[in-house]
Amino acid sequence: MDKSKRKVVIAGNWKMNMTPSEAEAAVRETAELVEGKNGCDVILCVPFVDIDAAIKAAKGTNVKIGAQNVHFEAKGAYTGEISAAMLLECGVEYVIIGHSERRQYFGETDETVNKRTIAALNAGLKVILCLGEVLEQRQSGITSEIVAMQTKLDLAGVTAEQMKNVIIAYEPVWAIGTGLTATPEQADEVCGIIRKTIADLYSNDTADSTVIQYGGSMNDGNAAELLSKVNVDGGLIGGASLVPAKFSKIVDAAQ
Ligand code: PGA
Repeated sequence: MDKSKRKVVIAGNWKMNMTPSEAEAAVRETAELVEGKNGCDVILCVPFVDIDAAIKAAKGTNVKIGAQNVHFEAKGAYTGEISAAMLLECGVEYVIIGHSERRQYFGETDETVNKRTIAALNAGLKVILCLGEVLEQRQSGITSEIVAMQTKLDLAGVTAEQMKNVIIAYEPVWAIGTGLTATPEQADEVCGIIRKTIADLYSNDTADSTVIQYGGSMNDGNAAELLSKVNVDGGLIGGASLVPAKFSKIVDAAQ
């Protein structure tokens, strides 16, 4: 596996944090701290209402702005939902799909994750597709089967060409927001299983060029070791992305 074919991508997931004015200040501060650090791509995925302020604050910097979800229909009677065209017109480049909190609390299934992924890619958004096992699945020794199945179901119908716009985020659910981090070896092993599944579904070439991030309590203390692993091409960071000084240290670790 040739890691040099892939760019490291460090993405923050702010979840339901930051008002627009807080977002503007945090994007500005982050952008200043990561200025000139071009060894990785830097993305901040912000709440919908922060997008406008975040895009303005990120203009002319190396910080890209993403959203945290997108609906699969183009328009219509879907109260509370946001379409891909709406995000694109606001200047959004990336969207997180299938985060475990969406799966756990909002009834998201592999089927709806797949529909959102297809709609986002067809519209021209880049997708950060999240998947990962829950604690009971890890304890029963079925992590490989679970992530392979999620990879297949969530990517059904996505073409090899479209895979250029897909980042996978392996996020073991037991590590998200818990302070428990997968060991670098565990992260590398499961990211490797996802890569192998992509090779089976597409080709070795597609597998070698797909960015696979690790997420789950990644912070400035553990990032360097996690990112040193051959199959770990970046991070999706929740809590630590809310503090620009911490997030920028993770970006430093990725240089
Ligand atoms: P965490 O969240 O870094 O706070 O564990 C990661 C995520 O949910 O993407």
